[in-house]
Amino acid sequence: MTSESDKVYIFDTTLRDGEQSAGISFSMDEKVEIARQLAKLNVDIIEAGFPATSPGDREAIARITQEVRGPVIAGLARAVEDDIDIAYEAVRRAESARIHVFLSSSDIHLAHQLRKNREDIIELARFGVSRAKGYVSDVEFSPMDATRSNRDFVYQIVQAAIEEGATTINIPDTVGYAIPEEFEDLIRSIMKNVPDIQKVRLSVHCQNDLGMATANSLAGILGGARQVEGTINGIGERAGNASLEEVVMAIKTRPDFMKVHTDVNTREFYVASKMVERYSGMMIQPHKAIVGKNAFRHSSGIHQDGVLKMRETYEIMDPASIGIPAGNSIVLTKVSGTHAVRSRLADLGFTPTDEEFTRIFAAFKDVADVRDEVDDRDLMAIVAEQTQSKIEDTWKLDLLQVSTSDHGSPTATVRLLDAAGQPHEDAAIGSGPVDAVYRAINRVTGAENVLTEFSVKSVTEGIDAQGEVTIRIETGGVVYQGRAADNDILVASARAYLHALNRSIAVAQHAATQHAVAQRSAQ
Ligand code: KIV
Repeated sequence: MTSESDKVYIFDTTLRDGEQSAGISFSMDEKVEIARQLAKLNVDIIEAGFPATSPGDREAIARITQEVRGPVIAGLARAVEDDIDIAYEAVRRAESARIHVFLSSSDIHLAHQLRKNREDIIELARFGVSRAKGYVSDVEFSPMDATRSNRDFVYQIVQAAIEEGATTINIPDTVGYAIPEEFEDLIRSIMKNVPDIQKVRLSVHCQNDLGMATANSLAGILGGARQVEGTINGIGERAGNASLEEVVMAIKTRPDFMKVHTDVNTREFYVASKMVERYSGMMIQPHKAIVGKNAFRHSSGIHQDGVLKMRETYEIMDPASIGIPAGNSIVLTKVSGTHAVRSRLADLGFTPTDEEFTRIFAAFKDVADVRDEVDDRDLMAIVAEQTQSKIEDTWKLDLLQVSTSDHGSPTATVRLLDAAGQPHEDAAIGSGPVDAVYRAINRVTGAENVLTEFSVKSVTEGIDAQGEVTIRIETGGVVYQGRAADNDILVASARAYLHALNRSIAVAQHAATQHAVAQRSAQ
């Protein structure tokens, strides 16, 4: 039997803390799609962004409030008037809205960053929470850097926030400094020393600087916390955040010890992880707990023997409970038809529109032409490629020809179609074939940017595997990510580059339109 007091609320901050990772910038469509997947996962709260930081964040949150049903939608705000007003404007249309107010509480932040004394901070915390409370009934308050703060001061600021109407108090280990036993003790001491603590839900938010975010989150639960914040794949500021799939699967796998439960539909974790991996361009390591490629692969003879006799001998979780695709009796090959591909997609949790399916099926045939068998990982790469952000492509690849040798410089010729479908062709020499491709594209488009990252990985094993390319370019101080998969890595490279380029053009066009509208309405 489970009860409400045994439930741990899951607060996903992939779209806020996750997007704070250096090099991650989700597009609007990607944010909405991730939020939809989080709703399928049945997380309790989605922190959809930090509205005051950018108009893009505000728009994305507003769309999520309208298109995603189920979880509470939260917006982050500093304890200042403008941030809170803007956060309310962004979340107000949600089925259930929360404003999350944060303010530093450690002496080091007070003295060197905020240049305020403790009395000022208490006053600001009161102001922030009561202003948010004037807008929504659901208000969360976080004393930032709580684990390096004076404990008595933490009790005071938390009590003040509760008196102003906070409904959740979140204790952040902002710089990943805590040790699990110490963190559990902090949570217990807050439970004991804050007079009105029983009126609120206590939450934890653990960064991973010492690799202890999951351990600290679980310690927080043992101490009495009933909300955990984290992200899919553990992405986040610096070394990242608590990985929600790890925290939730630990709770699910060890109910004997943890004595709590979550309402998460864990079968959606794998799709969520793959989606965040692709959209963030942050590839997870093969040995990543729960969702890594090797998490359920057994290599040693003794382990293989055990698993073949009884899975549980060496597996503490059932991969199916995480949604990891099992081997399937239907083998997809170049002679497979639409019915088989549609049904496999449905098994993997994808229900593309007819138009998307036409593209997916055509891409499937291309891959199947050069592979004996198209497995689930190929299929997921194809889906991602064919359904990725629906920005209007200013430039499309029409032809690519590369000539390379171990003597002399590689050359690339590209033909691109512009938005009106007109062809433009040019060629360039590069230090390597990929460089030649980028230079040729730049000659056609006139683009000026810096390529800051380029990575290629194979989607599956074998010489005929699809290559998946992720790149990042920087232009005007903003980083844009692009990715593409193809049997030919040079084609994938060209398409990944165009993807990033088209994104940067779409953002520039959007900003220009917004500016024109603002100017018109100011006249
Ligand atoms: O790490 C942190 O302290 C935060 C707060 C805003 C919760 O992200």
